[in-house]
Amino acid sequence: MRKKVFIDTMGCQMNKSDTERMLGMLSCLGYDETKEPKDADLLMINTCSIRQLSEDKAFSELGTWGKWKREGKDIKIVLCGCVAQQKQKEVFHRAPYVDLVIGTHNVYQLPDLIKRIENGETHVCECPEKPYGENDIEIKRVKGVNAWIPITEGCNNFCTYCIVPYTRGRERSRASETIIKEAKDALAQGFKEITLLGQNVDSYGKDFKDREYRLADLLTELNALEGDFWIRFVTSYPTDITDNLIETAVKLDKVCEYFHIPMQSGSSEVLKKMNRRYNREEYAQIATKIRNLVPDVTITSDFIAGFPGETEEQFQETLTAMEELNLDYSNTAAYSPREKTVAAKWIDKFIPEDVKTERLKRLNDKNKECCLKSNKKYVGRELDVLIENFENHKGKNVITGRTRNNKIVHIPYDKDLTGEFVKVKITGAKTWYINGELINK
Ligand code: SAH
Ligand code: SF4
Ligand code: F3S
Repeated sequence: MRKKVFIDTMGCQMNKSDTERMLGMLSCLGYDETKEPKDADLLMINTCSIRQLSEDKAFSELGTWGKWKREGKDIKIVLCGCVAQQKQKEVFHRAPYVDLVIGTHNVYQLPDLIKRIENGETHVCECPEKPYGENDIEIKRVKGVNAWIPITEGCNNFCTYCIVPYTRGRERSRASETIIKEAKDALAQGFKEITLLGQNVDSYGKDFKDREYRLADLLTELNALEGDFWIRFVTSYPTDITDNLIETAVKLDKVCEYFHIPMQSGSSEVLKKMNRRYNREEYAQIATKIRNLVPDVTITSDFIAGFPGETEEQFQETLTAMEELNLDYSNTAAYSPREKTVAAKWIDKFIPEDVKTERLKRLNDKNKECCLKSNKKYVGRELDVLIENFENHKGKNVITGRTRNNKIVHIPYDKDLTGEFVKVKITGAKTWYINGELINK
């Protein structure tokens, strides 16, 4: 009889992509996914440790599962992802009911490890510091329109606030042949959009010793694949975006007009302390160059409020940067000190919680203003939309999707058109999405 697995996935798309790979391997082992933790034989949590809050959430959920186990439920509990890689054996002190801790470098070993805990071993911890390698494994993609494909793993940048280089290791590029094969498989399964993933996609190929092959080359090869589909790539590091990449992206018809380029702070002083390799002016030059070369481009960013030592004036530079650069949308967060990172040691410079919260609120207000302004630009225009969902919104049927430049569009319509490309006339703008009507349907 087949068993059931529940996986809670936290954090970034990289984790979501790992979950798809784990579900693929687990399916070969006889496990089907359930969305209901109470029905599961195997309970897994794929964790994120980017902020303290995400880590706390993981342990709180584990606590609930531990209680079920103490009450006599026959379940296995697995912790994987960035918290696992960071805490390793320490997890068993805090959560002794966990059977397996598996690091970010060896998800490919999952089948063997699961067999070991199925055979009664417990407190198994496999978190090597080095990547285990990669096999051509089964991927059980969450059915949908968009397929995520990691192209690089890890990060070498060591921004002073960030834990990712510690949890994901040094940067390495996946073989282009593997990526192209995964893209072809996804297209054959009916996916309509390929999003290439990496902490810094512009670094793709820098570590290839035997050949000169970079992101622009990969985009060119993917663009040549047959079929009607779109291509995106995230995340870009401001000063690594080359003119060649921008020109290639403009030239290739399937590559969308969308760049996610986290700025982190609008203050050059703060950026220096964050160990980002650019200042405010350099970021502005790159964003402006992209805007000039790519018509209708959307540029999104990430910002941190209350980095250690950030003054009120420096914080205000972040607000003015968001506005002056017309950033279309930004992810925002209050600074959270992370173990092992450089900035976490600057305790005497920490900004009080209430000040951070207040700055985050102002950051979010500015973000809303920028989003609405950006969305209003498109009212009256005709845009291509890839439909991703059919839902009932406040009693009315709507189809929702995204434009090439990543704007979310709501369209009243009674038929499910998920996976279709449609032409839409934009009729209105809200903060987080735009409204439209189908043309020619
Ligand atoms: N590689 C990407 C970002 C990956 S992490 C880049 O270089 O921009 C995603 C976002 O989390 C970061 O952009 C940053 O804004 C935020 N972040 C990372 N560490 C953080 C911390 N300690 N506190 C608050 N936000 C953090
Ligand atoms: Fe973290 Fe910086 Fe690497 Fe992004 S570039 S993952 S923020 S260390
Ligand atoms: Fe992603 Fe969180 Fe790890 S953002 S790389 S899951 S720390």
